[in-house]
Amino acid sequence: MSSDTIEAAVDLVRGSDDVVGFTGAGASTESGIPDFRSPGGLWDRYDPSDFTIQALRRDPVAYWEKRLEMRENQEFDWNAVEPNPSHEALAALEAAGVLSTLITQNVDGLHQAAGSENVLELHGSRRAAKCLHCERRLPLETLDRKLTEEPLPPRCDDCDGLLKRATVSFGEALPRDVLMAAKRAATECDCFLTVGSSLTVEPAASMPRIASRNGASLVVVNLEPTGIDDRADVVIHAKAGETLSELADGVLG
Ligand code: APR
Repeated sequence: MSSDTIEAAVDLVRGSDDVVGFTGAGASTESGIPDFRSPGGLWDRYDPSDFTIQALRRDPVAYWEKRLEMRENQEFDWNAVEPNPSHEALAALEAAGVLSTLITQNVDGLHQAAGSENVLELHGSRRAAKCLHCERRLPLETLDRKLTEEPLPPRCDDCDGLLKRATVSFGEALPRDVLMAAKRAATECDCFLTVGSSLTVEPAASMPRIASRNGASLVVVNLEPTGIDDRADVVIHAKAGETLSELADGVLG
């Protein structure tokens, strides 16, 4: 039987030896970055099939034209987004030795900006670029310069391969080392805290289930119900910022 109170979450986290955090786009909406599946979210306005790795390989110019259109229409500036209380609370829990690992689906880098150090970016990072052919990594600035100064699509100076942000697109494999580390953390922890994720995209969405199957207690913080709520010990359908701030205050005293 789950409880829906902060006090129950504080007790669980306090009584655990190894807490693992897990975040989705809902942890960053209070920084002004829309999520994907809430009403008005990104996949409400764009067709995700236009942004798969297959779409990029099939028609690279069309892929980048849609990407640039998305950037034109977005109501926030990537260079201006800041960590919000969700990121700050998770960083404080790590700094106090409570949170051992933070697994995130987010590519915005706000956990690291808030001070989190042991962050596993399952879906890569938007803060760099990569070549799909030779797999070299390059600064985001190089990609952005090519997008403004060269004909589409942006190509690698070394091998002429297609460039993209260093995120994991639908149809692309997750970084194997990161995925294995996340599975290990979920297996070994005794408390798993999932925040701001609809838990709908595999393999990331399996992490809470892996933890629960290995005996961990489960705390869910999400505005909407998730598919794991019925297995959770604590379910809090509220905003992540205020909830995690209260949780961190309660745990850290
Ligand atoms: N506080 C708590 N929950 C929130 C908040 C908030 N401030 N804002 C949004 N949410 C919840 C929404 O109710 C939703 O259930 O966060 C969840 C976000 O779900 P998605 O938009 O599906 O995002 P996410 O789970 O991270 O998606 C996973 O899908 O498109 C891919 O690669 C993309 O990493 C992403 C993956």
